[in-house]
Amino acid sequence: MKNIKDKIIIRKANIQDAKKMVDYFNKVSGESEFFTFREGEYYKSVKEEKEMIRKINMESNSLYLVVEYQDEIIGNLILKGERGPFIRHSVEFGISICKRLWNKGIGNELLTYMIKWCKDNKEIKKINLAVREDNHAIKLYEKVGFKKEGVRKKYMYRFNKFYDAVLMGMDL
Ligand SMILES: CC(C)(COP(=O)(O)OP(=O)(O)OC[C@H]1O[C@@H](n2cnc3c(N)ncnc32)[C@H](O)[C@@H]1OP(=O)(O)O)[C@@H](O)C(=O)NCCC(=O)NCCS
Repeated sequence: MKNIKDKIIIRKANIQDAKKMVDYFNKVSGESEFFTFREGEYYKSVKEEKEMIRKINMESNSLYLVVEYQDEIIGNLILKGERGPFIRHSVEFGISICKRLWNKGIGNELLTYMIKWCKDNKEIKKINLAVREDNHAIKLYEKVGFKKEGVRKKYMYRFNKFYDAVLMGMDL
């Protein structure tokens, strides 16, 4: 089979994607314990998702990306920029890929796309992320150039247990 990375499409989301994204989040949240909500419990309605996509597409320092494979959404990345004039250079993102396609380099491809977009953006100077301390994604983030900067205590509460997050960043 040809490399899957050559067959995916990475593009900006539009408001017509809202329903598909709500369905996507409701499904993938059951595939990994690192999501902040359970399967089928995504906390946004289609209307709210539409509104978020619309707002993000209007902001010069924010980005909502989807990954398509064979006409299906199989991944996403949401990057949100700060609003205040003195902190607008700073952005934070979250990423996911559906489990059946993990470890094929798609996450890497999506991060590379996002980093280039940020570098081409005159405003953005710092990319941030928070990742649960036991998430294998830390290796991937380090591979694309993120550095550990700190710890956020009690980031997540799940299964009667608190988990800290590693805070990571990239200077542009
Ligand atoms: C994190 C995530 C987006 C990575 O996507 P992906 O398409 O599988 O990523 P890639 O295939 O580009 O890279 C996977 C890398 O992760 C690391 N990795 C994957 N599985 C691993 C494991 N079980 N143990 C250790 N490292 C692992 C490796 O560094 C691998 O890189 P390699 O090319 O050197 O093997 C995906 O696993 C996911 O959606 N997870 C659930 C949601 C999530 O945790 N999001 C991040 C929240 S901060």
